[in-house]
Amino acid sequence: MNKWTVSKIKNLKGKEKITCLTAADWLMARLIDECGIHLILVGDSLAMTVLGYENTLPVTIEQMLHHTEAVTRGTKNALVVADMPFLSYQTSEKDAIANAGLFIKKAGAGAVKIEGGAFRAPVVKALTQNGIPVLGHIGLTPQNINALGGYKIYGKTTKEIKNLIKDAQMLEKAGAFAIVLECMPPFAAKKITSTIKIPTIGIGAGPYCDGQILVSYDLLGLTVSNIKPKFVKNYASLAQEMKKAFLQYKKEVETGKYPSPEHWY
Ligand code: KIV
Repeated sequence: MNKWTVSKIKNLKGKEKITCLTAADWLMARLIDECGIHLILVGDSLAMTVLGYENTLPVTIEQMLHHTEAVTRGTKNALVVADMPFLSYQTSEKDAIANAGLFIKKAGAGAVKIEGGAFRAPVVKALTQNGIPVLGHIGLTPQNINALGGYKIYGKTTKEIKNLIKDAQMLEKAGAFAIVLECMPPFAAKKITSTIKIPTIGIGAGPYCDGQILVSYDLLGLTVSNIKPKFVKNYASLAQEMKKAFLQYKKEVETGKYPSPEHWY
């Protein structure tokens, strides 16, 4: 048994690639955990993949707590990180500490994730100094979708790369134990990864990060959306498999093939 803690994950930098996936429920967490994945993120992307919202903004703290509790129940060894939802940490440091505390005390998470770079450093510092480990998240930050006017790749120009490096350095200095780099060119992620001492976890950020994360629903082909970001690799086609099974069941009930004698008492 190897229980993954924040410090053990930090220590993997430069030694072993860090594997991370998202989960939103007990079963998914349990299956991921049994495969030895280091970190399970209860990402606010569950707003879209599980709850059917258009983007991540509407998901509430209560909903995120509910899902985080289920994930921690299913996890023995991975570090569970809870995503702080939109406006649960932006309003004040006091609100951020109180809300992050719920994920740790009530839901049993080992850390929280918040979006934002240098300007978010004071909140990261307030959390980490009060015993709440923080996973940073820079590059494409989906909670900013309205301000950005859509999802876009950041880090293509020298100026943007400089800003990203500053963001990463400030988050490291504030005490973040690792940083998610979302949707940026590989050379930007490489530069950030070699500049800071804490691990970088890439999603759509190329091969040079210290670890990778994917949304499990995407990896499993368990989505109904036609939009597939370039970084998504489907390791299975579960949506199709599930529909096939549901249709077969429907047909067998309608034709009287199910239940047959081995299914009744
Ligand atoms: O919410 C989420 O799933 C995330 C990952 C994409 C990093 O933030």
